[in-house]
Amino acid sequence: MKSGGGGGGGGGGGGVICSLSIGLVSAVFGASITVVFLLGYFSHKPINGVLASFYTPSQPQFNIPIVELLAHTRPPDHESRAHLLSSEFSSKFKPAGTRRAGNKLEQGLARARAAILKAASGTSPSIIIKNNDILSPAIYRNPTAFYQSYKEMERRFKVYVYQEGELPIVHDGPCKDIYSSEGRFIHEMEHGNNRFKTSNAQAAHVYFMPFSVTWMVKYLYKPNTYNVTPLKEFVSDYVKLISTKHPFWNRTQGADHFMLTCHDWGPKASQGNAILYNTSIRVLCNANSSEGFDPTKDVSLPEIHLYGGIVNPKLISPPPSNISRPDLAFFAGGIHGPIRPILLKHWRGKDTDLHVYEYLPKDQDYYDAMLRSKFCLCPSGYEVASPRIVEAIYAECIPVILSDHYVLPFSDVLRWEAFSIQVDVSEIPRLKEILVAVSEDEYLRLKEGLRAVRRHFILNQPVKRFDMFHMILHSVWLRRLNLKVG
Ligand SMILES: *[C@@H]1O[C@H](CO)[C@@H](O)[C@H](O)[C@H]1NC(C)=O
Ligand SMILES: *[C@@H]1O[C@H](CO)[C@@H](O)[C@H](O)[C@H]1NC(C)=O
Ligand SMILES: *[C@@H]1O[C@H](CO)[C@@H](O)[C@H](O)[C@H]1NC(C)=O
Ligand SMILES: *[C@@H]1O[C@H](CO)[C@@H](O)[C@H](O)[C@H]1NC(C)=O
Repeated sequence: MKSGGGGGGGGGGGGVICSLSIGLVSAVFGASITVVFLLGYFSHKPINGVLASFYTPSQPQFNIPIVELLAHTRPPDHESRAHLLSSEFSSKFKPAGTRRAGNKLEQGLARARAAILKAASGTSPSIIIKNNDILSPAIYRNPTAFYQSYKEMERRFKVYVYQEGELPIVHDGPCKDIYSSEGRFIHEMEHGNNRFKTSNAQAAHVYFMPFSVTWMVKYLYKPNTYNVTPLKEFVSDYVKLISTKHPFWNRTQGADHFMLTCHDWGPKASQGNAILYNTSIRVLCNANSSEGFDPTKDVSLPEIHLYGGIVNPKLISPPPSNISRPDLAFFAGGIHGPIRPILLKHWRGKDTDLHVYEYLPKDQDYYDAMLRSKFCLCPSGYEVASPRIVEAIYAECIPVILSDHYVLPFSDVLRWEAFSIQVDVSEIPRLKEILVAVSEDEYLRLKEGLRAVRRHFILNQPVKRFDMFHMILHSVWLRRLNLKVG
């Protein structure tokens, strides 16, 4: 568990309400559900030819698992989602028949898919300026497809939030400390004034189950027992409740339903219902692809550490771009999980250019150190995600991702290689050599990428277009687009 999560606590937010919150072709499976692999429409196109020089010539590929929406058709029993919806499974889907609302929804989605595919095949401009939107194409896998998809989402996407369940575990979540992204999203869906929420369940594309795994840990878990059964039972009961009271779950076997949590134990809690685990969209910070996280249906949620519920003032606005960065690299943090011991063993106190600490010296400030460094080392801890990645983005300190099996947030649309560096865990001994080899031009390109991507990692109240709330929803929207119901 995370430091901020505290044993058996979770978030330490203590039920505090977030401050402002008051207020294609397709493969057919069975009768009524189809998985549409639009994938690839974000397929990668080198934008300006610099890609190959991405950190060392011998390793030009960014090898963190990246989901793409694929343009081509896939045979029915191909891998991934198609697999999950194999014939014996999908035979349980109830035909949605001629529900008119459903058909209308599906027709809208079909139009959205067509528009996105059309945009995807267009040529990439050097910059997108439309209406008041300015997008920097270099950071997107397919900028025109992303922009079209985003607009289609704004135009059409409707989310129904289940009313079932009671406070404190449902309809609330932590808005402080390490699991803030969970509470902030739940609060926005419950109380926000966004255009996506609908109270007409028939008109929804997706169904949100607004329970908080962090609050389950706080209220149901017995400290030091490592027994997650009460969490699983809660999830199991919740699915039972909504699937009995409403027709929606059974219609798609939960495929158009989603849950969201930043807690380390989110994946475990989701095991409380095998169909939820296998089929629903799970939006998780703990996006470990070797622990059941399936990027074709699950969504990787950024982890953001909000001490006291706010971003540290030093990181609120981008630092001047000409600020000098005397330090090559920085890391300070506990020796948790499989990767940090390797990093600390090789670099703690070993080199004056790499500032690697377990405990930051008392006379230093954590965020000042980030702002003083060109590269911020972001190793996984107990789980794959780290709030350092988002802090590094805010500080415009190039994130150096040291992870195995981490599916990076929004990697279905973002080119992480445009604003971060990945170093294989086995290359940690060569870390300095690798960072020193990044040319000044390459460094400036990455920094520009960071400046452009920042907006996608910001939590606003009220929400703003293209911010983190919208990017999370966009990830859910893409997964829903890959599904045809009815
Ligand atoms: C959904 O299916 C379950 C299990 O088959 C059943 O118990 C439940 O009543 C069904 N829900 C509805 C609304 O029909
Ligand atoms: C979920 O997936 C696992 C692994 O593929 C499988 O063993 C299990 O039977 C599935 N459960 C359901 C309810 O589909
Ligand atoms: C950085 O830029 C600002 C404004 O353009 C200027 O006032 C300042 O002197 C510059 N600082 C350095 C260290 O060059
Ligand atoms: C990811 O999952 C694998 C397989 O369970 C595990 O060995 C690894 O430690 C996990 N990574 C982290 C950072 O927890």
